[in-house]
Amino acid sequence: MLEVAKISTTYTCNECGTQSPVKMGKCPRCGAWGSMEAQSAPTAGAGRATGRGRGAAPVVVETLSSLELTATERIPSGIGEVDRVLGGGWVAGGVTLLAGEPGIGKSTLLLQLAHEMLAQGHTTLYVAGEESLSQVKLRAERLGVAAQLELTRETDARNLAEHFRSARPPFVIVDSVQTLIADDDGTPGTVTQVRDGTALLTQAAKEVGSALVLIGHVTKQGQVAGPKVVEHMVDATLALESASGFRVLRTMKNRFGPAGEMGVFEMTTSGMRPVANPSEAFLAERPRGVAGSAIVAALEGQRPLLLEVQALAAKSPYASPRRTVQGLDSRRVDVVLAVLERRLELPLTGLDVYVNVAGGLRLTDPGTDLAVALAVYSAVTNRPLPEGTAVVGEVGLAGELRSVAQLERRIQEAGRTEFPRLVGPPLAGSRHVGVRTLAEAIGVVWA
Ligand code: TYD
Ligand code: MG
Repeated sequence: MLEVAKISTTYTCNECGTQSPVKMGKCPRCGAWGSMEAQSAPTAGAGRATGRGRGAAPVVVETLSSLELTATERIPSGIGEVDRVLGGGWVAGGVTLLAGEPGIGKSTLLLQLAHEMLAQGHTTLYVAGEESLSQVKLRAERLGVAAQLELTRETDARNLAEHFRSARPPFVIVDSVQTLIADDDGTPGTVTQVRDGTALLTQAAKEVGSALVLIGHVTKQGQVAGPKVVEHMVDATLALESASGFRVLRTMKNRFGPAGEMGVFEMTTSGMRPVANPSEAFLAERPRGVAGSAIVAALEGQRPLLLEVQALAAKSPYASPRRTVQGLDSRRVDVVLAVLERRLELPLTGLDVYVNVAGGLRLTDPGTDLAVALAVYSAVTNRPLPEGTAVVGEVGLAGELRSVAQLERRIQEAGRTEFPRLVGPPLAGSRHVGVRTLAEAIGVVWA
């Protein structure tokens, strides 16, 4: 029988890594235009031996009982807000992606973190692919980074991996993955170079136990530009975003700890400064005595946080009125609006409704439902919520109020702020205002 070998070209999306055997103008998965790039060589992994033609090696099988647990050892980062997000600190051999828009403060934060590691006696290497060494020096000196920081402009991942193996640096920062190259005819920033470069560095870092941090730029749409593929290869992904003039560091994924945690910073002339009291910081610009504003005692990761939910209702010029939601799950908001309309007979017909979390924060906590309901109710009836009141609770389809995670800690957080009167689902032995339905909540808020 004749064996026919095929050299096939595959096309890989620069944005999300989707592969296709045919060239397409638009990526079928992420919808990016003109992002499909040709690759004639088999992709990493795909070209591995199939097992035929080589001696099969025995597969090592273990049982749970034969395995010894090694607790993941943490190296404290030296900045509390960062440790909160990492789940205690850096992990030797752990690879972290720090993603964020250009100019958000990624390089600044990591130079500060480099300093903290140096202060603990850990040799630290900064791979400066983005800026010249003198630019980095200028900034590092301004931030007071210890002079022992090691720097290189090398961006060939093969050389860097070799260096990791010989020098075994405990802490390495790569600024950024978009500048890495992994083969001689590669253009930095393409999905192949970013992916293969990351794979080489990840493997070397794991071999020698380096904590490796990769900086990745994202586009305005929040996509990790190009290296969406990197997210699958790293142990943790952190996102640095802007909200209410602050910088919010969030865990998107964490193989070693909880995801969804959040750290809050302020960009100052001397770098990123942790914000001690985020609730207060986020509520500083809140308008007072205005209808359509409700304060929610939310939970972000393990941290209770008071935030403002805003709503606006306006007569719609359209046949089907608009619902515009920012920072919240729009399906949840739709449910709350339906409950207001059907169970409380709030007239929403013909109204455009806008709902958002003030300051550009994003919340996934179902406990924000009640704040959405009261902000919309307040906007439509043009009655501000009384000062000093915060709310929490998930709203059910029957208009009932459902309990939320960590209610006690939310009550405590509200008690520390200028919103000590918390209205929410009942909790035995608690001093807050317990209510069982949305109607009851409206009754006690505007009593
Ligand atoms: P940068 O860390 O370069 O952002 P990224 O690496 O994410 O692209 O910092 C962005 C901005 O922060 C830059 O415009 C200058 C400003 N900045 C400060 O306000 N204070 C500082 O101490 C530093 C170092 C930078
Ligand atoms: Mg930078």
